[in-house]
Amino acid sequence: MELILKDGEKLTFRKLNISDYDNVNKFLEQIAGESPNTNQYVGQPPKKYADCEKIYASEQHLFLGVFNAADDLVGSCSIGIDKPNHPYMGLNSTFGISVLNAYYGCGIGSVFMEEMEKWAREKKMHRIQGEVRAENRRAISLYIKHGFSIEGCAKETAWINGKWMDSYYIGKILK
Ligand SMILES: CC(C)(COP(=O)(O)OP(=O)(O)OC[C@H]1O[C@@H](n2cnc3c(N)ncnc32)[C@H](O)[C@@H]1OP(=O)(O)O)[C@@H](O)C(=O)NCCC(=O)NCCS
Repeated sequence: MELILKDGEKLTFRKLNISDYDNVNKFLEQIAGESPNTNQYVGQPPKKYADCEKIYASEQHLFLGVFNAADDLVGSCSIGIDKPNHPYMGLNSTFGISVLNAYYGCGIGSVFMEEMEKWAREKKMHRIQGEVRAENRRAISLYIKHGFSIEGCAKETAWINGKWMDSYYIGKILK
């Protein structure tokens, strides 16, 4: 799948695989420096190669990347089944999404949301859920646009720039 930006740049979406390992770590390091709104942090250790190898090949997860013309990873999303064998909770899935600052507002987030929902429906999931910092208006507006609701608030989950931040629980029931 491709996305052509207004300036003509072509972006390519595809599933991540273990050959993307170095690209992914570089991307996560950059994301950590650019945004306080993900779980990544500056100075974090690289992901373990064996963990990546396993999870990228897993049928219970989707890792999707978007690459620019230089084949740099500029955005990624993931969705996974939380507890696949659980008798009561096996139909819940959790997602995450990150785009490099230079590519905000180009529609990448929307493509990711659609692809993750498609995957969740194929897996017969009942629910998609996630967490978002309460001040992350760009992300919240993307999620609301894609049919998610704010279901609750967790107080003071992150200490950022000298201030406590709340998080929202967001979710969508797949009908
Ligand atoms: C949040 C994020 C994933 C959105 O991705 P994106 O590719 O920029 O999303 P899109 O371009 O598809 O759409 C963004 C929407 O937000 C809207 N938006 C942009 N800036 C906004 C702002 N300051 N306040 C509210 N809405 C805003 C846009 O208008 C767009 O809606 P539209 O399609 O109706 O025009 C991306 O900005 C990102 O990765 N941020 C840093 C990491 C992060 O916050 N991840 C989410 C953690 S929960």
